[in-house]
Amino acid sequence: MTIEDIKKHLTTTEFGKKIYAFESIDTTNTYAKTLALQGSNEGTLVIADDQLRGRGRLGRTWFSEKGKNLTFSFIVKPNIPPQSIGVLSLYAGVSVAAAIREVTGITPECKWPNDVFINGKKVCGILSEGIFTQDKLSAVVIGIGLNVNQSEFPSEIRETATSLMLAAGKVFDRFQVLATVLEHLESLYDNIQSNRINKILSLWNRYNRMFGKYISVSYQNTVIRGIAKQLADDGGLIIQVNRDEQKVMAADVTIIKE
Ligand code: BTN
Repeated sequence: MTIEDIKKHLTTTEFGKKIYAFESIDTTNTYAKTLALQGSNEGTLVIADDQLRGRGRLGRTWFSEKGKNLTFSFIVKPNIPPQSIGVLSLYAGVSVAAAIREVTGITPECKWPNDVFINGKKVCGILSEGIFTQDKLSAVVIGIGLNVNQSEFPSEIRETATSLMLAAGKVFDRFQVLATVLEHLESLYDNIQSNRINKILSLWNRYNRMFGKYISVSYQNTVIRGIAKQLADDGGLIIQVNRDEQKVMAADVTIIKE
């Protein structure tokens, strides 16, 4: 891919103003983190056709076939306290969901904290990583893996992964999809900067696929099971466990019963 391929479609002003495009890289998130530490601007985009060590959350691997999908990271410098960093994943998830709806006509579903699903299968994963200088959140790298035209997946994820092409039955222009995702990211970003977290939460609620379902949540070596109730004001997830309510901020969630 070339920077021209990408720029041709872009309609944003800040997001994607500076682009680093690679045929192959270890992971775009680490590259973007280094750039952020060196002072790169907000909106800087790092994108690759192939990642040799694509990372998922919780130390997992992100599988993506070379040249078929979107694997990119971008830098933001939000005006938020470090404990609100979780809201950024919801913000990114909802932006991707809105873009998917725009390009495919299919309404996807968001699974807390940061996955996007179509027909019960994962189409997009998001990995946000904060960069702290002297205990202050100076930047966040948001890494997005969106399956666009991949038709076959490795056996580990064959049953659980999908792509826009598999869901919609046609091939998509990756850069058009990228431009649409960046457009939604840029237009919703104002809500983050002006601390209108509620706007992000209510948009996310429209795409949510969890509430009322029985889920298992694992975090910090603990597993709890209960009914997913709602988002907390800070973007955490409230779970009803017997008669109590518990809030989790970062966790791995499995939906046990649809
Ligand atoms: C997950 O679902 O666990 C998160 C997956 C995040 C994948 C993206 S692809 C671009 C960026 N670079 C990485 O190494 N990971 C993120």
